Amino acid sequence: MKVVLLFEKILKQFVSENTRTILICSGKGGVGKTTLTANLGIALANSGASTAVLDADFGLRNLDLLLGLENRIIYTAQDVLDKKCRLEQALVRHKKEPKLALLPAGDPRMLDWMKPEDMKEISELLSEKFDFVLVDCPAGVEDGFKNALAACKEAIVVTNPELSAVRDADRVIGILNTSDIDPIQLVINRVRPNMMASQEMLSIEDVQGILSLPLLGIVLEDEQVIISTNRGEPLTLTDGKSPAKKCYLNISQRLKGKDVPIIDPKNEGKSLKDRFIRLMQTKVF
Ligand SMILES: Nc1ncnc2c1ncn2[C@@H]1O[C@H](COP(=O)(O)OP(=O)(O)OP(=O)(O)O)[C@@H](O)[C@H]1O
Ligand SMILES: [Mg+2]
Repeated sequence: MKVVLLFEKILKQFVSENTRTILICSGKGGVGKTTLTANLGIALANSGASTAVLDADFGLRNLDLLLGLENRIIYTAQDVLDKKCRLEQALVRHKKEPKLALLPAGDPRMLDWMKPEDMKEISELLSEKFDFVLVDCPAGVEDGFKNALAACKEAIVVTNPELSAVRDADRVIGILNTSDIDPIQLVINRVRPNMMASQEMLSIEDVQGILSLPLLGIVLEDEQVIISTNRGEPLTLTDGKSPAKKCYLNISQRLKGKDVPIIDPKNEGKSLKDRFIRLMQTKVF
């Protein structure tokens, strides 16, 4: 019996050490962290990796909404910490993508007492069970961010190609650089090829030049993101094709080490096929 327990312990430790715990952060609010967490979570799970998404935005939680899981929450991360339930009881498994589980945020009062060690405890518990743990971080560089940071080994910094978002991302990167987090990668969200072409928007090279981070991917501006968000069904869960869905899938592949080329915004929407699709989508009143 003792040998079995010891074997279980060693196995758990081995699994935990190999788990990728990834902080999804930004600095500026509203740049697309939660949308990326939900879509990436589904994409990774769909590719066979057991994946947990942890809502660390205790003040303004909405990862449950984006995943359409808000009505299935019974326990939260807070109950796990308070030992009111086991982790397995608090995890909400996605019905359509069972390899994905959400650990919901507790109520906003958690912000008052939560410490980095608490987040570490949660992430260690999740690491025993999952290949990937994605931590949806609150905006800003205050305690909520610092607590979430303590729970992770890697980070994805999300920004929009706008000066204010890039400047806030730079502050976050400054803090990440003083921690053990490695690698720190960049996702540029809401890219509009036309505005970039007419130099009305910072280019990918501009943003990368300012932030000096390896680029994990870009996500194109896509109204389907807003539609899918409102439905509580991430784009990566839907059958249809859309520019942002392709970007999310590419990012998930790159996270798993696949060599997938980054979409060049200059070539987006220029092919005959793209123009035909646009024409078909145009509503004539
Ligand atoms: N690529 C995209 N194209 C179009 N809309 C997008 C895209 N990415 C995100 N959005 C929209 O931007 C809004 C903010 O996204 P989201 O909630 O994911 O940001 P956030 O960084 O998590 O915000 P917060 O800091 O408040 O937590 C949402 O309405 C979402 O639908
Ligand atoms: Mg969010």
